[in-house]
Amino acid sequence: MEATMTNTSASKIAIELEDKYGAHNYHPLPVVLERGEGVFLWDVDGKKYYDFLAAYSAVNQGHCHPTIVNTLIEQAKKLTLTSRAFYNDSLGEYEQFITSYFGYDKVLPMNTGAEGVETALKLARKWGYEKKGIAENQAKIVVCENNFHGRTITIVSASNDDDAKKNFGPFTPGIISVPYNDANALAELLAKDKNITAFLMEPIQGEAGVYVPDEGYLKKCFNICKANNVLFIADEIQSGLGRSGKMLACDHEEVHADILILGKALSGGTYPVSAVLASNEIMLCIKPGQHGSTYGGNPIACKVGIAALTVLKEEKLVENSERLGKILLNEFKKIQAANPELVKTVRGKGLFCAMVIAERNGKTAWDVCIELMKAGLLAKPTHGDTIRFAPPLVITEEQVMECVEIVKAVLKKF
Ligand SMILES: Cc1ncc(COP(=O)(O)O)c(C=O)c1O
Repeated sequence: MEATMTNTSASKIAIELEDKYGAHNYHPLPVVLERGEGVFLWDVDGKKYYDFLAAYSAVNQGHCHPTIVNTLIEQAKKLTLTSRAFYNDSLGEYEQFITSYFGYDKVLPMNTGAEGVETALKLARKWGYEKKGIAENQAKIVVCENNFHGRTITIVSASNDDDAKKNFGPFTPGIISVPYNDANALAELLAKDKNITAFLMEPIQGEAGVYVPDEGYLKKCFNICKANNVLFIADEIQSGLGRSGKMLACDHEEVHADILILGKALSGGTYPVSAVLASNEIMLCIKPGQHGSTYGGNPIACKVGIAALTVLKEEKLVENSERLGKILLNEFKKIQAANPELVKTVRGKGLFCAMVIAERNGKTAWDVCIELMKAGLLAKPTHGDTIRFAPPLVITEEQVMECVEIVKAVLKKF
């Protein structure tokens, strides 16, 4: 664990406990949080921070949103879990709500994002065999380089990140990778391989460092998929639910994915809720006993999902993300223009922004994040040099401008 600046005994104890008893599969900033509200988090010593990670975009509605939390509490007092061995009185209501919200025939509820992606891949294979007529065990899925779709064996089989893959093999076969933001590469591949059943992609690559593809890329890929009878699967687990300034990042190009995967902010950060949406033709390929999850579609998740989606619309968080995202990116561009040697690139869409920091005198994006933390703003580097700035969508313009000043002041130190 890195030496920290103000580790009091309370934070020191918490960090040491995690270090001693927890698996070392994360590398957190040295801050111990105990409370959250809206865009703010407080550490165990009462220090207040702006949260610019928003739990990897799970708390788009803000920390501990009262409507979502109260919904969870009320349902938890009544009925938490029955398993799918029986019907429950919340699931149908949620299924009707979410399918009409996004314009799909059917939903398959799961819990985590990775489970959502696994579900989509299983659905795509099943559709490939039963509807497209691919010969048994020959179906292939196309993914994009530098993707991030989660951590299961099949999903890391689709990754080209060495950390995600090394010594986790053997991997799931039938996965082919194409460069991101290169529709021609996809077109060439689909034209020559008729065993491809689906193209899985992130409309904006989040973990890769908020890579926004060129305008027109999504639409082109969608059309290429249509022309080749290949399913277009959008992983909107991070880019969706208002993050990019539209309800879905695919909405920027009016693309209606064949299979849509949602997670994270589907519960506003209160509960693991993910969902896979598709047409009857695709979804009904899966029959009883062929897929499922003990907790998927449980009454708490259903009620929380409805509340989280309702809050997004009622509080106009998508519109807020679009408007304030433009302001934030514009301010970041000014910061970059003033510090071109330190800030190599800024990019983003909606409140989904990133800054690429050049290493100087041995100081990296990690050191910038440590200084941001000391100054009261929490953000985390991804892939070493890129800092993602993705606050809860409830942030106000005044708060955005205050945070811009914090970033400016911190960068001055470098
Ligand atoms: C685009 C995308 N897909 C899938 C996942 C996996 O979600 P989970 O961590 O809930 O399994 C993530 C998580 O960051 C993600 O960003």
